[in-house]
Amino acid sequence: MQFFLDTANLAEMRAAKAWGLLDGVTTNPTLMAREGGDWRAVMQAICREVEGPVSLEAVGDTADELIAMGLDLVRNGPNVVVKIPMTPEGLKAVRVLRSKGVDTNVTLVFSPMQALLAAKAGASFISPFVGRLDGLSQDGMQLVADIMAILRNYAGMGMDARVIVASVRHPRHVAEAALMGAHVATVPFSVLRQMFDHPLTTAGLETFNKDWAALNG
Ligand code: E4P
Repeated sequence: MQFFLDTANLAEMRAAKAWGLLDGVTTNPTLMAREGGDWRAVMQAICREVEGPVSLEAVGDTADELIAMGLDLVRNGPNVVVKIPMTPEGLKAVRVLRSKGVDTNVTLVFSPMQALLAAKAGASFISPFVGRLDGLSQDGMQLVADIMAILRNYAGMGMDARVIVASVRHPRHVAEAALMGAHVATVPFSVLRQMFDHPLTTAGLETFNKDWAALNG
């Protein structure tokens, strides 16, 4: 499984990279706004920092607007993936961008049908938002299971989209995604950090350190 960081913060990317856990990055307008500053410069710095795919989100109501912004976004680095909203106009844009060799990540996916449409349109990545569904008392991980089953049914038949489990709220989301064979989980830095922890690791380490100190007088 690949780990992407769901952030526009360079310090977080550097920390994940030092652990060898940075396979890519996803951003969105909210995450970009949180960083502030000159968004073009921030995007270019992210693309330089990250070796893998960097999702930058196109904003617009029509396919033409999304295509134009997508073609502008890819100028920020060789590893840009254009994030496109899951709308009829968005899928038109996916098709055109694919024909121009631009990778896309269809975002705001909340149903298996939306995922199937995005895969058929030629999306490189599909992002089901599990945490936001859980927040509505629906089952975000069931959505991922359904999407994985659909993609497996048609493997080798022209749909090569990879699934990015997004809107991740806790390590259990990541564990379940890995068990389902999801290709990627994009995680906030706080969740990545939580993934290291277990109370028995902390307690065990404390005892070992204490006993080692006693052994050494
Ligand atoms: C994914 O690419 C999105 O940026 C992200 O996971 C959105 O998650 P949120 O529900 O935490 O905003």
